Amino acid sequence: MYIILLGAPGAGKGTQVAYLAQNLNLVHIASGDLFRQALEQDTELGRQTRSYMEKGALVPDEVTTKMVLEHLAALDGESGVVLDGFPRNLPQAEALDKALDGSSRAIDGVVFIKVSPEVLLRRLSGRWICRNCQVPYHEVDSPPRVKGRCDRCGGELYQRPDDIAETVKKRLKVYSAETAPLIDYYIRTGRLVEVDGEGSVEDAGKRVIAALERVR
Ligand code: AP5
Repeated sequence: MYIILLGAPGAGKGTQVAYLAQNLNLVHIASGDLFRQALEQDTELGRQTRSYMEKGALVPDEVTTKMVLEHLAALDGESGVVLDGFPRNLPQAEALDKALDGSSRAIDGVVFIKVSPEVLLRRLSGRWICRNCQVPYHEVDSPPRVKGRCDRCGGELYQRPDDIAETVKKRLKVYSAETAPLIDYYIRTGRLVEVDGEGSVEDAGKRVIAALERVR
């Protein structure tokens, strides 16, 4: 099964992948996590992408698409895959379809997680992330059991620098201009299922799983 999770910054894509991982056997490929790892390790990729991420702009397509397609190609072909944060504009979506065309793989479904702008802002301003395994928490809505520590691996929690108010505004603008048009693209190709992403993590997770059952 090949699945794309689509949604605005803060819609709960990373949160739902963590929830799905407990219920389904899927490899998680998150372009944002891969970039943050590269930044942390100060690799060539990290140095190339730092300025875009700090501004809340998209990293150039050729860099992003190459990175994600290399990760896909390295998989054994047996595992299901959930893509989170990629594709993020039409050129990336078309490049992905082209890369899968002619292989035994295809996108089974695109789950669009819909959340209102007010909830997005509230979620991003209270988000903490595990430095080690990237699982997201919210200081009020889904806090860790021990303050500052990841429930799953005990790693240190931190706030993302691109979650400051100015950069969030920019990321939401970029989402509306570049990523929202993908909703129509995947409706036209009959692959989109919309899910209400509000309410508790568990309630939203049950709706995501029900949506996956429909696209299977
Ligand atoms: P990326 O890391 O992909 O960030 P994003 O898309 O902006 O998405 P987020 O990670 O902010 O949100 P999310 O939907 O995963 O929400 P989460 O689950 O954490 O991208 C970062 C940057 O990398 C980009 O700006 C760009 O520069 C670059 N980049 C990445 N991909 C790229 C691409 N393809 N092309 C070009 N550039 C790219 O949830 C948010 C908060 O809400 C958390 O605190 C969580 O605990 C809480 N929460 C979630 N769901 C619930 C719920 N149901 N109830 C209560 N709280 C909840």
